[in-house]
Amino acid sequence: MMSQNTPQTVSDHYGLIIDGEEVQSVSQATFETVDPATEDVIATVAAAQPDDVDAAVKSAREAVLDWKATPPQDRGRLLSELAGQIRAEQKRLARIETLDNGKPFGHAKSDVEVCARYFEYYAGVADKVHGDSIPLTSEYADYTIQEPLGVTAQIIPWNLPTNIFGRSVAPALATGNVAVVKPAEQTPLTAVEIGKLALDVGIPEGVLNVIPGFGGEAGAALSGHSDVDGISFTGSVPTGQEVMKTAADGVTEVHLELGGKSPNVVFPDADMETALDSAITGIFANAGQVCSAGSRLIVHEDIHDEFVDRLAKRARELSIGPGLDGNDIGPLVSEEQLSKVEQYLEIGLDEVGEPVTGGNILSKDGYFVEPTIFDGVSNHMRIAQEEIFGPVLSVIPFSDEDEAIRLANDVDYGLVAGVFTENIGRAHRFARDVRAGQIYINEWFAGGVETPFGGFKQSGFGREKGLAAIESYTQTKNVCVNIGQK
Ligand code: NAI
Ligand code: MG
Repeated sequence: MMSQNTPQTVSDHYGLIIDGEEVQSVSQATFETVDPATEDVIATVAAAQPDDVDAAVKSAREAVLDWKATPPQDRGRLLSELAGQIRAEQKRLARIETLDNGKPFGHAKSDVEVCARYFEYYAGVADKVHGDSIPLTSEYADYTIQEPLGVTAQIIPWNLPTNIFGRSVAPALATGNVAVVKPAEQTPLTAVEIGKLALDVGIPEGVLNVIPGFGGEAGAALSGHSDVDGISFTGSVPTGQEVMKTAADGVTEVHLELGGKSPNVVFPDADMETALDSAITGIFANAGQVCSAGSRLIVHEDIHDEFVDRLAKRARELSIGPGLDGNDIGPLVSEEQLSKVEQYLEIGLDEVGEPVTGGNILSKDGYFVEPTIFDGVSNHMRIAQEEIFGPVLSVIPFSDEDEAIRLANDVDYGLVAGVFTENIGRAHRFARDVRAGQIYINEWFAGGVETPFGGFKQSGFGREKGLAAIESYTQTKNVCVNIGQK
């Protein structure tokens, strides 16, 4: 039984958080968000329109000077309290995340913990951001100040809503920026919940605004807003290009994180169990809807047959079903994503024939796809080059190290690349020669909130996570003083 004081898991309706209050769109527009495991409506949500975006940006602008002037240790303390509150509500937030996005509950819990970690990590950074003193001739004193950008916009995707909220918002607020966050229309709920927690812990009104809404309406109005100083966007390449073009009008700073088609290279001297575990997690975690998924498995021909057999066996053992029921793989986020993945299953059939395992959409309610492995893939094929964003792996054989590196690089993306080998020289040659923002050696998804993250090539530019995010959210002001002669 729930006690009277236990907050209800999910509300029937969610508003916009603007200027310290939960409000409705001035137009009264709303939309529904569904549970992708059942296709049931979970809640109605206010849909921000350009007027609401304007109100959110205005409230942020009004809050920016006070927040910038708030002593960094006080900003840090507030973010730390928010981290504590997110942790205290971990189960409730994770349940909402699973209902809204579909992901397994265990994964949702870890995403909420990672979100708390981002606020905690950047809380500790808040009072350690400082400039340099630069020696000139004795007539001058020169120093730099790391200033916040000002009003920042965070456009968040649906695959890791809570995790990416923390990743994008925590460094912004820690460095004295204020934020207007636009969560994805498929998964708006946890962003609004965290926006409310921020008010509960005393983060001042206007500092963190959350405006659910559609990309073409709220997202476009936000990225084109003349009073936004910086945009952090995570999502697809075409939308990222659109955001960049829109932002160009106001010469607004943009950081883009645009996904990948990441190579996972396994050499014959790798520890086979480790490589198998990582290959499975790399492509099937979150049903493959991960920007850093290991979606191109490049395996040496000497171990190829055994590796693929064992991988397929493991894939068949994964349980598929609603995320709240303890399954390994939940549904895809939406009907659109399901039909996109379905098209790629057909493309795969055309390009290489039957997959070694999977290949089917499950005929039950919800957007479930079997974990699928296509073998004998050539790197020029569409299933080797295009981001599918589903539980679909393409396996490509190779014969020597040069070929492995050439294949790893032969793609428009450059987000991550992984290598499995016991040969230390080969591992570091791979790290040196592959063009990607992150290199994983002997573990897929290696790294944490402390490690810089971002793309090469079409995977985007700008860095998030770690201290690198501080650079993304600050600008350098140089102060040069003529101190004269005695
Ligand atoms: P999307 O890139 O269109 O959506 C991401 C975010 O951008 C959402 O908040 C959306 O509302 C917003 N948005 C959409 N149009 C906008 C616009 N014109 N201006 C400003 N914001 C806008 O991604 P979508 O269509 O939901 O997914 C399509 C594909 O994108 C996926 O199949 C996947 O391949 C890729 N994707 C990659 C992600 C990543 O982490 N790199 C995350 C989500 C999707
Ligand atoms: Mg939903």
